[in-house]
Amino acid sequence: MKKEKFEALLQEDRLFPPKEEFAVKANLNSEQVYSEAEDSMNFWEKQALNLDWFEPWQEVLKWNPPYAQWFLGGKINASYNCLDRHLSDWHRNKAALIFEGEQGDSKVLTYQDLHREVSKLANVLKSLGVKKGDRVTIYLPLIPEAVISMLACARIGAPHSVVFGGFSAEALRERIIDAQSKIVITADGGFRRGTAIPLKENTDQAVRGLEDVEHILVVRRTGKCIEMEEPRDIWYDEAMKEADLKCPAEPMDAEDLLFILYTSGTTGKPKGIVHTTGGYLVGVSTTHKWVFDLKEEDVYWCTADVGWITGHSYLVYGPLANGATVVIYEGTPDYPHKGRYWEIIEKYQVSILYTAPTAIRTFMKWGNEYPLAHNLSSLRLLGTVGEPINPEAWMWYYKYIGSESCPIVDTWWQTETGMIMMTPLPGITSLKPGSCTVPFPGIKVEIVDSSGNPLSKGMGGYLTIRQPWPAMLRTVYGDPKRYESTYFGNFPGVYFTGDGAKWDSDGYYWVLGRVDDVINVSGHRIGTMEVESALVDHPAVAEAACIGKNHDIKGQALVAFVTLKEGVELRDDLIEELKAHVVEKIGALARPEDIIFTAELPKTRSGKIIRRLLRDIAEGRALGDTTTLADAAVVSSLKELYED
Ligand code: WTA
Repeated sequence: MKKEKFEALLQEDRLFPPKEEFAVKANLNSEQVYSEAEDSMNFWEKQALNLDWFEPWQEVLKWNPPYAQWFLGGKINASYNCLDRHLSDWHRNKAALIFEGEQGDSKVLTYQDLHREVSKLANVLKSLGVKKGDRVTIYLPLIPEAVISMLACARIGAPHSVVFGGFSAEALRERIIDAQSKIVITADGGFRRGTAIPLKENTDQAVRGLEDVEHILVVRRTGKCIEMEEPRDIWYDEAMKEADLKCPAEPMDAEDLLFILYTSGTTGKPKGIVHTTGGYLVGVSTTHKWVFDLKEEDVYWCTADVGWITGHSYLVYGPLANGATVVIYEGTPDYPHKGRYWEIIEKYQVSILYTAPTAIRTFMKWGNEYPLAHNLSSLRLLGTVGEPINPEAWMWYYKYIGSESCPIVDTWWQTETGMIMMTPLPGITSLKPGSCTVPFPGIKVEIVDSSGNPLSKGMGGYLTIRQPWPAMLRTVYGDPKRYESTYFGNFPGVYFTGDGAKWDSDGYYWVLGRVDDVINVSGHRIGTMEVESALVDHPAVAEAACIGKNHDIKGQALVAFVTLKEGVELRDDLIEELKAHVVEKIGALARPEDIIFTAELPKTRSGKIIRRLLRDIAEGRALGDTTTLADAAVVSSLKELYED
């Protein structure tokens, strides 16, 4: 672990206490909830009673560090909790999903509609030989079928592995192999800025030679002509036509796998984060109801894609378990125009908006005229997630989107935590722009130094979580050693988040960002090692080192330092070629912003790349300009400055 010192933060004194009219109607408006949750076991057990269980649990928690099991013996089904339990009263006709396509097409599915589609697809999956425990890979655009597929898997107890549609064929292949999926659900394409993304072609490429993949189920979305290989490939709509309407939900053990979701780590190989059923559902439904102050009549819009954890927890499982109306939007915020989000809010009278700081900074840059051109008065609460939000962006969001009347919940959490861990409770907590405020009831965090000693207020250090929580990851799929060392290897028995944080004099938390070799580009986690491996895979490259540099919109941007193989000539088009190579290996989200060629990489005597120096160079803090880095003598003289 690095011993970097954390930069002192600017003092942020602005406080926004909950407004009286909001607090009186809030789901929670008394601090008492925090003291009640001191006994966290009792607290989570009480929350678990809000779900429908086929059989009750015998034990709330078995903690055999670092392995946790929650609600032991309990039987539950996630799809049942998101659908069936809402059908016994008027909720059956409540809108569950409001879908807005990029092209402006739209569709509403009530809870009854969604239940029917999910049951049918569950039967299709069964008929294709999917059994309880089998993994299904989902590679779809953000269309209703993505949600239907996740819930259909959950219904029959087949863990899903959703792969974001922006990942390349190779990245998809790696994830299909790791999860050993027999089935992939994809589409003939997905719309992005008016063009169709070739999801089926990518899938074909990804599964080439993989004998375990028996079927590819293909949703018709763009209508583009694609190749179908019979009998492996099956059209989704044709299979659905014949499917039976009834498919009882499989009673699952609380600790049975619900899904695997791959995320970047500090090695070249992504980690399959494992989430199980009972505890996860308890965590996401409770946090969703309280953090977003969910009311029956709310129209809730989470702008994340289902390919990320935010899409899993706060677009699918949390809101649907709570019977919410969820808006999903397929496209980008600027297609066909920069007012798209505000148009959608006005069209569907969205009352809760959950989005990312990078999007907010982009909107700021585009200008106030776009939100001002729409009536956003339906909004009553705003949220952010994915990266620290700078106070300036917070204030803009507060003023121009929330008309200074909507609380902003800045929610800190991770793929691994499954649920929101630090956040304001909007009827209770005073807000401070840029701070995710305090831990959720029942969650204990601590900031420690590199030896694990707790740090006092005002100091920056490593963010740890002291006790298990119900939605925590259970392991890394197929690699328990990696689970143990990554999360519990630094501070025994205590979960290490990989983030640095600071605690201020009011006890508010400020997350400063990753302290490991993971960088956060536009709220997406990218392992520098993954990008480095993609670069050295190119025949011209000898060595590569990637770092994140500060970026006004993306938060961080990727910069790659590359040394070329002996005899390779520096060509003008090599930079573009290397960028394209990374896109092909990983996906557009990992495309380096800059590539800097260097004759040598600065390393310590033991051979470790001095990334700190590279960061300084990329941000223009080092001596001279970066082009001189090609001179080996410059590298060594710079290096001397950095060696301890
Ligand atoms: C960062 C996304 C500051 C953090 C849910 C974390 C944040 C990583 C915040 C997880 C926030 C997320 N303030 N930083 N409100 N939310 N992060 O797994 O560095 O995609 O470790 O999960 O994003 O990213 P992940």
